Amino acid sequence: MNLILMGAPGAGKGTQAEKISAKWNIPAISTGDILRAAIKEGTELGQTAKTFIDDGKLVPDEIVIGIIKEYLMSDVCRNGFILDGFPRSIPQAEALDGMGVKIDAVLSIEVADSKIVERMSGRRVCTCGASYHTVYKPSQKPNICDKCGAELYIRKDDAPETVLNRLKTYHTQTEPLKDYYAKKGLLVTVEGQEEVADTTALVYKALGNL
Ligand code: AP5
Repeated sequence: MNLILMGAPGAGKGTQAEKISAKWNIPAISTGDILRAAIKEGTELGQTAKTFIDDGKLVPDEIVIGIIKEYLMSDVCRNGFILDGFPRSIPQAEALDGMGVKIDAVLSIEVADSKIVERMSGRRVCTCGASYHTVYKPSQKPNICDKCGAELYIRKDDAPETVLNRLKTYHTQTEPLKDYYAKKGLLVTVEGQEEVADTTALVYKALGNL
């Protein structure tokens, strides 16, 4: 299965990507995670990306297109993939079309903006990539990662004013992709639920029907 996961920042793309990845045994490729890893390593890519991410803006198309192309052409994706957070603009979607990769479905997780702000304030993440929520997906020990035991932290771009900028960016630049993929007959939407497991059940049902 070659799948694109869409949704506003904090809609639960990463959370559901993890579940789909485990169930269908295909890798989840998150451009956000790749860019954050580059920032942590202090690479040139990371330094460029940081200025955009900290402002809640999109990193320039040519940078993320290059990253994704490399993944899709590699062996990692030979049995399928989940793209979490790519494409995020019409030029990125057109570039993906140009890579000649067949997409089976585009799954959009729908969550109201008011809910997003609440969710982001409770998100805690780990450098190993694990993600939690203080109420909806708490770690077993407060502020400690279940997977690696490291201390959890709050993502810098989860500051309320940055979240509002990210939502603005989503509505203007990314949301038009829903129409783009609906016209291709690929769009499937799922309403994000209060509980992670309830959203997962809807996601499995939607993907099972493909
Ligand atoms: P990225 O990391 O992709 O951020 P995002 O799209 O804003 O999404 P998030 O990771 O914030 O949230 P999510 O939807 O994965 O939700 P999660 O599962 O964590 O990108 C960051 C930045 O990188 C962008 O702003 C941009 O600058 C840049 N970038 C990335 N890709 C790019 C591209 N293609 N082009 C250009 N720039 C790019 O869930 C959120 C919280 O809610 C968690 O705490 C979770 O536990 C909780 N939760 C999840 N589901 C539920 C539920 N059903 N009920 C209750 N709580 C839930």
